[in-house]
Amino acid sequence: MARISRGPRSCRVTSNQVGRSVVGSLSENDLHNQDRHWSRHAARYDEVFLDPYAPDVENPLWATLAAVADARQKTVADLGCGTGPLLPHLVQRFDRVIALDFAPGMIARAKERLGPGAAPSVRFVQRPMHQLEDLAGQLDVAVAVNSLVMPDVRLIDRTLRAIRAALKPGGQLLGIVPAIDAIAYHVMLLMDRALDRGLEPREAERLAALQAERRYYDFVFGRFRFQGLRQKFWQPFEVEHRLAKAGFTAVTLGKVLYPWDESLAGSGELEGFPRSWDWFFQALVGPR
Ligand SMILES: C[S@@+](CC[C@H](N)C(=O)[O-])C[C@H]1O[C@@H](n2cnc3c(N)ncnc32)[C@H](O)[C@@H]1O
Repeated sequence: MARISRGPRSCRVTSNQVGRSVVGSLSENDLHNQDRHWSRHAARYDEVFLDPYAPDVENPLWATLAAVADARQKTVADLGCGTGPLLPHLVQRFDRVIALDFAPGMIARAKERLGPGAAPSVRFVQRPMHQLEDLAGQLDVAVAVNSLVMPDVRLIDRTLRAIRAALKPGGQLLGIVPAIDAIAYHVMLLMDRALDRGLEPREAERLAALQAERRYYDFVFGRFRFQGLRQKFWQPFEVEHRLAKAGFTAVTLGKVLYPWDESLAGSGELEGFPRSWDWFFQALVGPR
């Protein structure tokens, strides 16, 4: 999940950024700010962020990628590829791989991961993922793992439309987005646990909020702020709403399930409960 393991999860807005928001157009400053912050997190990314690819995570992305027919003749784009954890897998399965990210620090780490000359089939592209005009109608599959997190939802809508236009008819977008409802679920379990231990409701609430780092989240708008990073967290209905709005058809939702391990607060006592999750989706492009 895009939330961070161990300690704070991810983003904070400076008062400057709040004032700079431009109504009716997307703020370039804002985009630039976020790519800088992501670059800054590149070096320690793998230690700090929860890993949806870990072997003990149940992730529907693997089976969905495995089900892509004739992948050896197909082009896939990893949009917001980050440090490139998915790239080796995509390189093995697909004919051509486009690895796109707006943060130069992330692209550098992804290149390092693949090694020099390791993958002539990979084209690295450093730019924001709503700028896909040159790829119109060229992609068979687009993957966006925890990268549809722009704090300005207008940019998310614009990005989803751009991805749809870059996909061929019959193409598909596979995504994982951080789940804001999973954070509320975790808070509920922590609160219950504190009450069961005999704490008064106010004290139990205070403890649960502290453990789940509630101060970083805005639950109504699905936002997360930490150390300059700002991320959108999603409700399942919002996934369906935004994909339909961008013109995708046949949207299916699933859960990426995380084990209760030390990266989630209070995990030792939560093991008997259903696991925490992020939202996985598959969205198809119909005939044009
Ligand atoms: C949470 S990381 C996930 C990285 C990778 N997909 C993974 O699974 O590890 C989000 C990535 O999306 C990139 N990103 C966020 N917004 C973006 C945008 N508008 N355009 C391009 N990349 C973006 C960030 O730079 C970062 O590398």
